[in-house]
Amino acid sequence: MLAGAHGPAVQRAMEMVVALARIYGAHGLVEIKSAQVAGVSYANIGDSGLAFLSHWADEGAKVRAPALLNPAGMDLQAWREMGVPEDFAAKQLALVQVYARMGVKATCTCAPYLLPTNPLPALGDHLAWSESSAVVYANSVLGARTNREGGPGALAAAIVGRTGNYGLHLDDARQPSESWLVTAPLPSDADWGALGIAIGRASRGVPYIRLQGPPVASADASATADHLRLFGAAAAAAGSMSLFHMEGVTAEARAGQVRPPDTEQAIISALDEVYASLNSPIEHLDLVAIGCPHASLAQLEEVARFLGGRHVATPLWLMASRAILGQAQARGLAEVLAASGARLLADTCVVVAPLKLMGIRSVATNSAKAAFYLPGHQGAAVRFGPLERCLEAALCGSWR
Ligand code: F3S
Repeated sequence: MLAGAHGPAVQRAMEMVVALARIYGAHGLVEIKSAQVAGVSYANIGDSGLAFLSHWADEGAKVRAPALLNPAGMDLQAWREMGVPEDFAAKQLALVQVYARMGVKATCTCAPYLLPTNPLPALGDHLAWSESSAVVYANSVLGARTNREGGPGALAAAIVGRTGNYGLHLDDARQPSESWLVTAPLPSDADWGALGIAIGRASRGVPYIRLQGPPVASADASATADHLRLFGAAAAAAGSMSLFHMEGVTAEARAGQVRPPDTEQAIISALDEVYASLNSPIEHLDLVAIGCPHASLAQLEEVARFLGGRHVATPLWLMASRAILGQAQARGLAEVLAASGARLLADTCVVVAPLKLMGIRSVATNSAKAAFYLPGHQGAAVRFGPLERCLEAALCGSWR
């Protein structure tokens, strides 16, 4: 491949994979089970990214390993209803088309581990994923192995079916290096995200986390998969965390593959400061956004239960993969949510959609990751809180 026997597109991909492997001192290459490619929103990669990818596709690039896409800048079908400008939509569709020519599936989700049609990565599987929230979930909750690949790096790995055997592909790098004790109660989904920000900001390695809520909250502090997704996404956004171990919860901790570190324990007893840092003092909301990372079916059901048929006063986006929305449709859930005025969006997310062009300047969300990124990426003022509080705000039209 490196010598060009498979053509210029594969050669270019292998040059990238080998260059990265050399930079990071890899122990050769490993075959990957799948790749997940970021760099899909036209808002982020622009004309130069589109030209680069088109050239690669024109050279005949095709993926060897199953490859999936991260969210795009719009719902690929309902972009008009979203209010996305026509010229942006044309470029975005062209971009997804280029990926499709290379064989990358237009799943356009940051939660590929929820897709019913894709095999769930298993303990020890090697991957080349690039979306940070998916990377931390795959490594920690599933016990698969992936570094946080850049978009082009993940695509190159998919084209050659391999990635460099370094970093989190190796046993030693997966051992915890710091110890955390969480005594703060975690009764809401937002608390899990806030905890992710707290640990993500301060962590310098691989954390080993013990949960020890006070008696009253301990019954609620069970780590569900959705809580872990909110936690990991926030931790990866606030710092560079790509792997954490949680005692009795995450894959390698449960399998007895990690040794709790012998270091002094950092204690998290309150999350008030995180909430203060993520909230702006605004009442008016242009949008309430739920589904960062992309929502599971259980989360959509929770929204429908809370709304109970009431109609929202502020636009409410529920973001999920098209596959999950298909399941919601099949169960009649999508209809119930739409009747409450919620907009079900596939393929996209509030952080990569062109919010400014759509006139959206203030957003409420239950996602600490979205709350962390929205001010910088979109110039939006943010309210961050539990799902119920966000939905209450959507119903009454302001954050009280
Ligand atoms: Fe996914 Fe966008 Fe959040 S890619 S994790 S919904 S910022």
